[in-house]
Amino acid sequence: MDTFVIDGPVRLEGRVRVSGAKNAVLPVMTAALLVEGVSTLQRVPRLRDTSTMAHLLRVLGARVEHDGNLMRIDTSSYDYWEAPYELVKTMRASVYALGPLLARRGKARVSLPGGCAWGPRPVDLHLMGMERLGAKITLSHGYVHAEAPNGLRGGEIFFEIPSVGATINVMMAAVLAKGRTTLVNAAREPEVADIAAALNRAGARIEGAGGYAIQIDGVPELRPLEHATMADRIEAGTFLIAGLMTGGDVTVEACDPTHLQALLEKLQQMGAEVEAGPDWVRVRRVDGVRPVDVTTAPFPGFATDLQAQIMAGLAIADGVSLVTETIYPDRFTHVAELRRLGAQIRLDGNIAVVTGTAHLSGAPVMATDLRASAALILSAFAAEGRTEISRVYHIDRGYESIEEKFAALGAPIERRRDRDDPEA
Ligand code: UD1
Repeated sequence: MDTFVIDGPVRLEGRVRVSGAKNAVLPVMTAALLVEGVSTLQRVPRLRDTSTMAHLLRVLGARVEHDGNLMRIDTSSYDYWEAPYELVKTMRASVYALGPLLARRGKARVSLPGGCAWGPRPVDLHLMGMERLGAKITLSHGYVHAEAPNGLRGGEIFFEIPSVGATINVMMAAVLAKGRTTLVNAAREPEVADIAAALNRAGARIEGAGGYAIQIDGVPELRPLEHATMADRIEAGTFLIAGLMTGGDVTVEACDPTHLQALLEKLQQMGAEVEAGPDWVRVRRVDGVRPVDVTTAPFPGFATDLQAQIMAGLAIADGVSLVTETIYPDRFTHVAELRRLGAQIRLDGNIAVVTGTAHLSGAPVMATDLRASAALILSAFAAEGRTEISRVYHIDRGYESIEEKFAALGAPIERRRDRDDPEA
């Protein structure tokens, strides 16, 4: 397992272009299972998760080529319908195979993902949605078996929680169902709208994606997908927080500032000067970091996927901040590692009380999940001395070319490869 070595403190300055959004492209890749022919996707980041998803599509019988950031998925002759445990356990997003397989093949067998470091993370809303579309669902031997031999039919579905995954999975299934489907209290994350745009360009009839209610009129078939992935708002946010934390001057390019409003508001309250254009955001810091309270919420609220990174920022603020996690109440594995760097953070249920300190100091730490790893990198930039972050395979799941991008901003990261690591 690789280790990152960072010598701090460093100041970040310059421009960086964000990659395509991991959380949009993974379901778009499975949406290719809805069509017959060659789908072409652009701005597909080269990540561990996109290569795991390509592997799953190949297991199902599709041909996948990933050339630079272009991906071609040929589903002319795919013939299998099982997403095996070995893949689902390494990447929960494999569950996105369920909707497309059920819609196109009339059956699917998908391993239940199980919990993760942030808690139980059920998929009951995905399954409820598929049942409302007429699928018969049974659970056995750790797998979801779903069947709709006569095809799916539209229905009205109310989501008790606006789940991103359930909204996308059911939306993909409903595209080929007979009649009209309405999803109420749908997730409003921009990734939902991006996937709907990809499907509509291929002939689907989806209205309202990105809003509270989504209406889908089923069509008998789709053309192959032709789509360029939206910008990764979480990657963009990570660079902006890094700019603030290091007292730097960072311009993030090729992003959509309208996806970042909750973060930009907090960065300003923390003392950053923020400027934004149509597809870029610049963050500068002249003074110290001020404390603010942050509560995660569904979009357009503050993203849970930026909670660890903003906490790293608040750990060097001049005062006390409260960080409340409402999406995943246990998503705090980064806290113990941040403490090793000198952060003063106390947990009380789903609330972290962060008392800022001017003195973080480098130490060996361990990456525990994707966004937690990003928080450790940012803290290492702000800390005095050397930080060694082990288990960086987590970060490789979701940040494309991260060393190159930070090096271009003046913050070199050395990757130390473990020679015993079969994946090195
Ligand atoms: C997606 C993102 C993840 C992000 C999360 C919230 C991907 C691949 N992952 O995850 O990075 O942190 O959105 O923005 O896009 N829930 C249920 N039953 C379900 C589904 C969800 O109770 O069937 C609950 C979850 O436990 C959680 C909440 O709903 O408390 C939101 O989860 P959800 O929006 O579904 O997250 P994911 O799609 O898994």
